[in-house]
Amino acid sequence: MAIVSVIGTGYVGLVTGTCLADMGNQVTCVDIVEEKIERLKQGILPIYEPGLEEVVERNVRAKRLRFTTNYHEALEQCEFIFIAVNTPTGANQGSADMRYVESAARNIAQELDHYAIIINKSTVPVGSGDIVSRVIYDNLKRSDIRFSVVSNPEFLREGSAVLDFQNPDRVVLGSSEPEAAGAVARLYLSLRAPIMITDLYTAEMIKYASNAFLATKISFINEIAQICERLGADVKEVAVGMGYDKRIGRAFLDAGLGYGGSCFPKDVRALAYMADEAGLHPQLLHAVMDINHDQRHHVIDKLTSLLGTLRNSTIGILGLAFKPNTDDMREAPAIDIIRWVTTQGASVQVYDPVASETGREALNLAGVYMDAVTFNTTPYEVAQNADALVIVTEWNEFKSLNMQQIRNSMHRPVLIDGRNIYEASDMEHYGFIYRGMGRGTAAAPSILPPEDISSLVNRRPTLSLV
Ligand code: UDX
Ligand code: UDX
Repeated sequence: MAIVSVIGTGYVGLVTGTCLADMGNQVTCVDIVEEKIERLKQGILPIYEPGLEEVVERNVRAKRLRFTTNYHEALEQCEFIFIAVNTPTGANQGSADMRYVESAARNIAQELDHYAIIINKSTVPVGSGDIVSRVIYDNLKRSDIRFSVVSNPEFLREGSAVLDFQNPDRVVLGSSEPEAAGAVARLYLSLRAPIMITDLYTAEMIKYASNAFLATKISFINEIAQICERLGADVKEVAVGMGYDKRIGRAFLDAGLGYGGSCFPKDVRALAYMADEAGLHPQLLHAVMDINHDQRHHVIDKLTSLLGTLRNSTIGILGLAFKPNTDDMREAPAIDIIRWVTTQGASVQVYDPVASETGREALNLAGVYMDAVTFNTTPYEVAQNADALVIVTEWNEFKSLNMQQIRNSMHRPVLIDGRNIYEASDMEHYGFIYRGMGRGTAAAPSILPPEDISSLVNRRPTLSLV
């Protein structure tokens, strides 16, 4: 059993602290936001993350997990201190903002009175381990206090973060002190995952390179989707066919509205920024970002090609969160899509199973004209009198809707499936004008008056599923 502190109770910190407690360690989670800590003490989680609440509850009850805003209390006898504060994109729209990591390091230094290993979980620019060391060193209350710094990047997906923590593909540890890295490795031994120990810079780079590669896979398949759409192929089946090749793999080849969330957008930006700053020209990373941006815009292109002007139209939006099983709205495609359609004079009716609150805040912050946005409590209300329905997040509940009822309640039966969760032939059977992402609909006429819409139904033959 080790004594552990985790600084930052966001997605990464709360999951890390809770899972480490569940493995038998004594964990204190620290956050600067008092309200968050007060609510956590009452068992109210600041985030929606499946499975997390019961693990928190179990470990609080077992007295292995506690919450505080007080660094002094948290660091007493602590052997391992994880930094898991946020590292958003900085003011220059590229580099990661290290302000919070530095402030956490300062706070740690001011309270530390014994040897501890400080482990950085936040995604930080290559070389940041040195910055953390420097900040701690400069702020220690006594010069004889020793400490080590280890980088241990997180690979947790929101929505499955608890399972990802408990079943990692690998644990990466970086340090200039192999003994310190070895001590952290022992924390993870019971997970029976490969543990890679390397130097600090390489560990920090592994995180960026992994996220950038996954983002590249997504932009690659989205570019292929564009080509499929024009040439008449179905990208969903193309991805299946590609995925059988073990060298390629099926994961992260879902074409759609592109990537959002708290990591991929900021990490690809930050990696490109680091490369630019180093005098390089990271063309691939820039292309990945450009494709990702354009992908969201294709929804608007599809809407205008089918409806003509969007002025005075009503667009139903199913899903707000950047992906299912989370209420996280950071860099969610829904924000751009809603901003663009409302700017063109449409009003929107929206529904998300868990992200209404966070969605409202995010849309407000993005400067969306909120009078044009109605929040509904069911997908069926969203469809009512709508001129088009757009699937933005592939929540499971959207896969089993009564589509006949939905189609019947709409003003015009246009369905834009931004996540390819339906089959064209099924939707056309219900009378929808269906448009997926990259699913061979190139020959569609450009603007469709309402009365002519039926001419498009059943236009394409059904493709057999692999
Ligand atoms: C994390 C990582 O740390 C980030 O680098 C990674 O790339 C993505 O995941 P995340 O857990 O998603 O960030 O951040 P967030 O949910 O915003 O939580 C950060 C928490 O740290 C917040 O609760 C915030 O209040 C807290 N915090 C921030 C502190 O306790 N101290 C600070 O100085 C700053
Ligand atoms: C990501 C990393 O996967 C994880 O290791 C960690 O570094 C944090 O960042 P997360 O952002 O929670 O996790 O979600 P992820 O499941 O990776 O999806 C990211 C985005 O890519 C989502 O917007 C998702 O909709 C999109 N995506 C994913 C696709 O568009 N197509 C795919 O095939 C897969």
